[in-house]
Amino acid sequence: MSDIILVVGGTGDLGKRLINALLVKGAVIRMLVRNESSKETILAFKNHGVEIVSVDFNSQEDLKAACKGVSCVISTLSGLRNVIVDLQKRILDAAIAAGVPRFIPSDYSIDFTKLAPGENRNLDFRKEFHGYINSTSISATTIFNGAFAELLTEEMPLVLFPVNRVLYWGNADQKLEFTTKDNVAEFTARAAMDPSTPRYLYIAGDIVSPREMKGIASEVTGKKFKLFRPGGLGFLSIMIKIARTVAPGKEDLYPAWQGMQYMHNMMKGKTIFMNLDNNRYPDLQWTPVKEVLSAHLNEKNKNED
Ligand SMILES: NC(=O)c1ccc[n+]([C@@H]2O[C@H](COP(=O)([O-])OP(=O)(O)OC[C@H]3O[C@@H](n4cnc5c(N)ncnc54)[C@H](OP(=O)(O)O)[C@@H]3O)[C@@H](O)[C@H]2O)c1
Repeated sequence: MSDIILVVGGTGDLGKRLINALLVKGAVIRMLVRNESSKETILAFKNHGVEIVSVDFNSQEDLKAACKGVSCVISTLSGLRNVIVDLQKRILDAAIAAGVPRFIPSDYSIDFTKLAPGENRNLDFRKEFHGYINSTSISATTIFNGAFAELLTEEMPLVLFPVNRVLYWGNADQKLEFTTKDNVAEFTARAAMDPSTPRYLYIAGDIVSPREMKGIASEVTGKKFKLFRPGGLGFLSIMIKIARTVAPGKEDLYPAWQGMQYMHNMMKGKTIFMNLDNNRYPDLQWTPVKEVLSAHLNEKNKNED
């Protein structure tokens, strides 16, 4: 079997980290790109020995040819239904036609197999793609990692630094899973080079409740953080409905209500992992939430000096 790993979505945030992690592990990498893809990123990877293949993502012949001799396709694509369902299906069909044995879809999320349809729009697309992939003969592996830990310092309104509050809905002791983007990339790279992965792999760099987050935020900032609970999960559901009506943003990947759906899913506790595969590749070092928050504050302080 060939050792070529094919990456689709390698010009994206997670994709770049994944290719770097594969390079560290000495993988032979082929990367699919399109006309719109960043030339700078492509050149940088080309200089590191990554084989670049420019394709028309609507052409099954192009995709099948690109899959020749590949042992595993990894998708780190991001988008709505046209990408997560339609494009991934085309790539999967091409991979099967070319005899590729393994496929890692672009999931990297909370465990959406536990959610009912309608509970999370973006994850419904992934569930739909799972229905398709599970009906094929390819050996698929999904990586579930909870939320990207970096979101705590970006879009996810959980640690409210300016007002020293940790916002939550429902139960302050509900455990939430977080994994850094680099840890997700490092684990995915190892999984792609591991010929016998199961259908699902579960990882979490850290598992922290809102109450524990309050302690961590207080420790790293030296300020006394308090919990802030605007209401229960029922109230959050009403807020989601209102946000969806007022600002539907149907064509946006992350409209405000979509982030609220993730928050609802996590705070409800249905998606919590029952077991972890963190120790599958023992050389991997997991980054705790405390380190992510500290690094963020150090960077912020440096920029303000
Ligand atoms: N668990 C979490 O908290 C969390 C948070 C964020 C993301 N994620 C997941 O991580 C995965 C990667 O996300 P990301 O943030 O790294 O995405 P990203 O930076 O937006 O990158 C998206 C990639 O998809 C490619 N792409 C998009 N539309 C395409 C199309 N129509 N045809 C061909 N290529 C297309 C882009 O290629 P070009 O460069 O050519 O445009 C790019 O390489 C996704 O599954 C996302 O949902 C998880």
